[in-house]
Amino acid sequence: MKKIVSILAVIAMLAVICCSCGSTSAKVKVIDIPLSEESYAFCVGKADTELLGKVNEYLAKIKQDGTFDKICDNYFGNGTPADVISAAEDSSKDQLVVATSTGFEPFEMVDGNGVYSGIDLEIAAGLAKYLNKELVIKDMQFEAVVTSVESGLCDIGMAGLTITPARQEVVTFSDSYYSANQVLVVPADNAEFDACKTADDVVAILNAKTADCKIGCQRGTTGATYIVGDAEDPDGYGFAGLPATKMEYDYAALAFTAMINGEVDYVIVDDAPANAISKAINQ
Ligand code: ARG
Repeated sequence: MKKIVSILAVIAMLAVICCSCGSTSAKVKVIDIPLSEESYAFCVGKADTELLGKVNEYLAKIKQDGTFDKICDNYFGNGTPADVISAAEDSSKDQLVVATSTGFEPFEMVDGNGVYSGIDLEIAAGLAKYLNKELVIKDMQFEAVVTSVESGLCDIGMAGLTITPARQEVVTFSDSYYSANQVLVVPADNAEFDACKTADDVVAILNAKTADCKIGCQRGTTGATYIVGDAEDPDGYGFAGLPATKMEYDYAALAFTAMINGEVDYVIVDDAPANAISKAINQ
């Protein structure tokens, strides 16, 4: 009897989930046109040439033996994401201390039980094993990732980090493992960019805006730099900048929420998280 009741409860629950999926309409929409060309890499301390060599060696190995593709498939394809567990930091042990900033799916996520997953963190787990070290994950605000590696608090930054000239001043990047772009995300009912075919089309519309137009982004990211521009900075990435007002949030998903609540008009963020966060919101 108990079993039947619980089976009925499961069926009822599934029905509720299915109905709610069908009835909720999309809230956000990704304009699938690359606005920038960026390369992700891991970063280590300037003096840490030994770790840098090992990281590049490991990256080459997993790119070659199919491990990297398999990890990506866990998030973009049919694979199942693996759980990544962090040990407690203990300076008496031989550990690899990784700086990351979760909430950037599919590269770094954490669930309510402190279990990590994501492309970067699955690579982190494999790298720690390759180095015969225990993995320690330090989850922090994105802006702290590079500084924590620069100051030696962490051994390596693994956070969907774009190689930029300014960051290269203070840390050393590994070989690049992933190509990414900034993209524009708009409310689902916004048709302004529907006819756009190229980045120039999107930028022409954005350039016709004024400071009244608010664009949300994650604090300290290349998305933030894209909005304000850095073409005049000799250390800059070369972004021209937009006439809109930049609105920074601690996490990418918070910028999406702000857009749904009407606090910002658009969001600019890296393409893979743009798609992953939009998918989760629109479900
Ligand atoms: N690629 C962008 C940058 O390097 C965004 C990275 C955000 N990463 C994160 N884990 N939140 O600035």
